[in-house]
Amino acid sequence: MKKNKKAFITGITGQDGSYLAELLLSKDYQVYGLLRRNSKQSYGNVAHLKHEINFLLGDLSDPACLSMYLSQVQPDEIYNLGAQSHVGESWNQPIATADQTGLGALRIFEAVRNVCPKTKVYQASTSELFGETKVVPQNENTPIHPANPYAAAKALAHFDAQIYRKSFNLFIATGILFNHESPRRSPDFVTRKVSLAVAAIKLGLKDSRIPLAEGSLPVIDHQSKVQLGNLEAQRDWGFAGDYVEAMWQILQLDHPDDFVVGTGEVHTIKELCETAFSYVGLNWHDHVTINPKWVRPIETGPLVGDASKIRQATGWKPKTTFKELIKMMIDSDLALLR
Ligand code: NAP
Ligand code: GDD
Repeated sequence: MKKNKKAFITGITGQDGSYLAELLLSKDYQVYGLLRRNSKQSYGNVAHLKHEINFLLGDLSDPACLSMYLSQVQPDEIYNLGAQSHVGESWNQPIATADQTGLGALRIFEAVRNVCPKTKVYQASTSELFGETKVVPQNENTPIHPANPYAAAKALAHFDAQIYRKSFNLFIATGILFNHESPRRSPDFVTRKVSLAVAAIKLGLKDSRIPLAEGSLPVIDHQSKVQLGNLEAQRDWGFAGDYVEAMWQILQLDHPDDFVVGTGEVHTIKELCETAFSYVGLNWHDHVTINPKWVRPIETGPLVGDASKIRQATGWKPKTTFKELIKMMIDSDLALLR
């Protein structure tokens, strides 16, 4: 009889965790998800899958619970997506970020080494590893040069993934993913902040239905403007639904390795605003203002991914264009706010 594969996902309530859980369930995996306890138990982006996922209450800060669960479940695959994932916030919470984003991964690798050494592990690395690089585009050989506490924590996890792979012959692979977005993206990130603002302005919202963004502030101010930071920053934005396919492909290979995942296309925040506001017939100049509060002490990039290696190894390539992604997010936010 064919055995269903078992996958253990950390960060299952987040954007990527939810798309990955859907993908693995569609492939008949038994999905286990590490769920943090909170005072009003919430399932985040996987509320709609709550009866299909085996939730295990725990935390990446607790090595005992990770070893216990991994020993009990003996998963075929682990996807370590759990992290404090906000770059700006990592300057306010550097220690928590180092613990959850950096040491959290190391605790997973240690538990794997001790209780399930045959399990394949995917570690969520990031384009932020390249920091202030002047090399464009970036690939697996581009020097690592973190420029914020989040990236430093991810660098620790990335180097430990490589060290544990070599030292203990473990299958630990990394995906160096460039920015990927979706209607499930938290409003803390610039694309969703903008798509929510566009929808709220288009619908003329002036009331308590205006959603909250960074710092739990309304996404548009009393003048119906969205307040942003650095408009010149450049990013390579793809769709999260496409990127979780890449994560799965990476673990289906015979040997663990590091893979850049991106679209190879770069846009500024200005271009994002122009594309988003013009989609609903508005001029972005009328609705965007700068608030220095959202300008970071050090900016990274331009971050642009050269995904030739994964394309060659697995055939993966992104399916969704930048314009399609922005439209998808705005359509979803218009429906949400209506
Ligand atoms: P996200 O939406 O912010 O989700 C983060 C997840 O981590 C949430 O489920 C969160 O749980 C969980 N988490 C945080 N601290 C934890 C802890 N101590 N113990 C257990 N779980 C914890 O992030 P995402 O966009 O899906 O990204 C997934 C991963 O890919 C992250 O590691 C991120 O750094 C990395 N990454 C993301 C991108 C991107 O553009 N999205 C690009 C490259 C790399 P709660 O719901 O309880 O908070
Ligand atoms: N969040 C935010 N809010 N960013 C802004 C704003 C604003 O008001 N205004 C301009 N930006 C700029 C930031 O300075 C940055 O250059 C860019 O928009 C993208 O910011 P975010 O959307 O917050 O994403 P990020 O690139 O910092 O981090 C995301 O991508 C990384 C991969 O490169 C996160 O998902 C990380 O977890 C991930 O590793």
